[in-house]
Amino acid sequence: MNSTDAVKNFFGLVKMPFSKLIGVNELYRSSSFQEACARLQIGLENEDVVLLSGAVGSGKSNVLRYFTHNLDSNAYRSIYIAADSFKIGEIAKRALTALNVEVPYNGSAALRKLQQTIIKINREKAIKPLLIVDEIQELPTSTLVSLKNLLNYNMDSEIYLFLILCGQNSIYEKLRLPPQLEALSRRIRIRYALRPLSVEETGHYISHQMKVCGVEQSVFSDDSKAAIFQHSKGTISEINAICFELLIYATAQSKQIIEPSMLEVILQNRRGVPQHHE
Ligand SMILES: Nc1ncnc2c1ncn2[C@@H]1O[C@H](COP(=O)(O)OP(=O)(O)O)[C@@H](O)[C@H]1O
Ligand SMILES: [Mg+2]
Repeated sequence: MNSTDAVKNFFGLVKMPFSKLIGVNELYRSSSFQEACARLQIGLENEDVVLLSGAVGSGKSNVLRYFTHNLDSNAYRSIYIAADSFKIGEIAKRALTALNVEVPYNGSAALRKLQQTIIKINREKAIKPLLIVDEIQELPTSTLVSLKNLLNYNMDSEIYLFLILCGQNSIYEKLRLPPQLEALSRRIRIRYALRPLSVEETGHYISHQMKVCGVEQSVFSDDSKAAIFQHSKGTISEINAICFELLIYATAQSKQIIEPSMLEVILQNRRGVPQHHE
């Protein structure tokens, strides 16, 4: 039996909580999560470019996942790209792949093909493509400029492509500085920074995770939830990492209730401080 099976058996969990593999309908919807979705929706309705930002691990990509999952597929066709230090040709290739269109080898050919495909989708299917580019802090300035140009290659005023950009909070600095990005910056009329969970939300989030994995009774004491918030500052990825380790530790110690003292041990282990065994 591996250690996650041991944890599941010990607490009566049907699956392991605090994992990356959470179902889209099981995501915890904090107030900021809901506000972010509302901003994305307003962006679509008003044909505006939206910029979603937030700290690493705050849940940005999962907001996008939830939003696109619930999008009307008769009206929109979403294309999700997790950026790297890509040139626009690479973005175009990924977008074409996502659209199941044959991908030209050459970058500029790919870009032309993407432009044609966007028009084709609009005309033939009356569906609007929605391009979502995540991790845009990784993109070179020139690629960001080309992304903006992708929006207005059409001659008429009709919108052919929706654009949602997402990145770490540092993206604001990046957009502010070079004059080439002024035009893109002006097109982004909706900006929203995802907040970390509050102390109350952190407690609810932990219970929510346990509940979707089949455990209703409280395993994490209120004090331990408060301590987890203190340490994680409400960043979901950090809460997940801590809670995962706490469950493993509690199982090893045969403790059904998680207390703040256990968090101390976990944090010491993480820092590599030698621990005294009783
Ligand atoms: N609303 C949520 N409910 C449950 N788990 C979440 C939620 N948002 C994020 N997570 C989990 O937290 C981790 C980080 O989320 P992610 O969306 O990748 O953050 P970001 O894109 O801001 O770096 C992932 O493992 C993810 O499964
Ligand atoms: Mg992300």
